[in-house]
Amino acid sequence: MNDKENIARPFLKWVGGKTQLLNELEKRLPDKTRKTGVIECYIEPFVGGGALFFYLQKKYKIRKAYLIDNNQDLILTYKVIKKEPEKLIAALEKLQEDYLRKNRIDRQKQYYHIRDEYNSQMGTINYRQFSSAWIKRASYLIMLNKTCFNGLFRINSKGEFNVPAGKYKNPMICDSGNLRNVSKALAKTHIVCADYSKCRDFVGMGSLVYFDPPYRPINNTSCFTAYTKDGFYDEEQVSLAKLSKELADKGAFVLLSNSDPTNENAEDNFFDRIYRGFNIKRVLASRMINCNGAKRGQIKELIINNYQ
Ligand SMILES: C[S@@+](CC[C@H](N)C(=O)[O-])C[C@H]1O[C@@H](n2cnc3c(N)ncnc32)[C@H](O)[C@@H]1O
Repeated sequence: MNDKENIARPFLKWVGGKTQLLNELEKRLPDKTRKTGVIECYIEPFVGGGALFFYLQKKYKIRKAYLIDNNQDLILTYKVIKKEPEKLIAALEKLQEDYLRKNRIDRQKQYYHIRDEYNSQMGTINYRQFSSAWIKRASYLIMLNKTCFNGLFRINSKGEFNVPAGKYKNPMICDSGNLRNVSKALAKTHIVCADYSKCRDFVGMGSLVYFDPPYRPINNTSCFTAYTKDGFYDEEQVSLAKLSKELADKGAFVLLSNSDPTNENAEDNFFDRIYRGFNIKRVLASRMINCNGAKRGQIKELIINNYQ
């Protein structure tokens, strides 16, 4: 097995994924972490696709980690990969085989059939108890993510996954090598479905907490991309800033990223106000800036922390 085969990468394409910002985030890790290469306790309360977690776990020794998100299907999928990677791989291989041998029209039919089934499972799935239904659901979520338009995960106000089919020639629905590596990378993690504020229970002196909350919309024309039924508005951003201060006072290292409203309005100093006393850096990233996915631009993002 070569090195590449041992490296776990995010297994989903996730809206707001932080692959773009990894180098900038790494530069702003606590000095001690960079010097020792050890993270005693890593906590990511808006884990999504987990770009920073997967990046750090291959370069640093993470002794304990808590990965949290309030999207119950995302968390279900993490738990399935951790516990039953081989059963999940078998389910995905079957889906991939069926998909790849079909023509374009039949692929679309398969996609919408799975999307309907995925949405109808919602009322019956028991999120509290691991079962074979979890494996099926996780395989559907990954399949839909790999074959939907733009690789988005978006749900409507009823909680239904509503992204149309994409047109890929040869999508990698089952990346078995990566799923096995992800399963190993998750072995020592605690995976928690909860509101971000639950992290209070786990954060102590010296914990590294990375917050990557849903973005504040950039402008009126930027699309609404919901990961969960409940939105994340200014009120929630303010509560998060309060929690960040509370954790900083506990002796935690708090690192946070967000979109920069000054991209749109130079006077909008919302985050400068709510994170007064923290270090706030503006860095450039290339990001999708409208709904059709075609328009990308260099915009400023914020990286905020409570230490030098
Ligand atoms: C910007 S994304 C994180 C992206 C992630 N850093 C990555 O690399 O893919 C924000 C995540 O926060 C989750 N989320 C939204 N509101 C939340 C809340 N109140 N508590 C916990 N997670 C929440 C969403 O489900 C989504 O996965």
